[in-house]
Amino acid sequence: MSLIAPSILNSDFLYLGNTINMINESEADWVHLDVMDGSFVPNISFGIPIVEAAKQITQKLLDAHLMIVNPEKYIEGFRKAGADLINIHYEACKDKDIVSILKEIKDLGARPAIAINPDTPVDTIYDIAEYIDMVLVMSVFPGFGGQKFIETTYDRVKDLKQFFVQNNLKTLIQVDGGISNDNAAKLSASGVDVMVVGSVIFKSENPIQTIAELKSLTI
Ligand code: DX5
Ligand code: ZN
Repeated sequence: MSLIAPSILNSDFLYLGNTINMINESEADWVHLDVMDGSFVPNISFGIPIVEAAKQITQKLLDAHLMIVNPEKYIEGFRKAGADLINIHYEACKDKDIVSILKEIKDLGARPAIAINPDTPVDTIYDIAEYIDMVLVMSVFPGFGGQKFIETTYDRVKDLKQFFVQNNLKTLIQVDGGISNDNAAKLSASGVDVMVVGSVIFKSENPIQTIAELKSLTI
């Protein structure tokens, strides 16, 4: 079955503790933390203090999605705050030594991952695949929750999966943005290992039930 990682971006920040406790009680596997700096994406969300707070009340893996410029300046801070997996954007590191950043994430004891926007070809990451535990294939352009799922994501996931299988790589594939009951099963069948879901969970009457339904749709 695919893992479910609720994104807290669209939750009610007045009740963040309750949100994390709901995730603890649910069938969710990870907690997805959308860090935005207002430069890499046209939105500002939250940073290291929220990761520290979440770490105090959950045992679930904290998946830090860094939608920021110059991520290399912050990976130590996010690791110290408790991030278990650190996801940096390829587009923010194009003119940097991305391999050394990924190696530093690993040396800090976190799992390194690369996120690619919908208009970044998947083969962009082929030559750095050995340095990552996961690729995040964005199914929306990053910056906001509640956007429409981009349908080309299915084929992009299939191409990535084929590459990893052909090269005997155990790299996980994560998808993030616009995921719902309507596309979860097809995404899972395409080879998605981790699904990030935000607004569908936090808009629902019963988030715990919605998470269980999403999990049941995956293979
Ligand atoms: C967007 C974020 C996503 C988003 C997912 O930049 O990376 O994690 O919050 O939320 P939904 O599921 O509402 O698209
Ligand atoms: Zn995200």
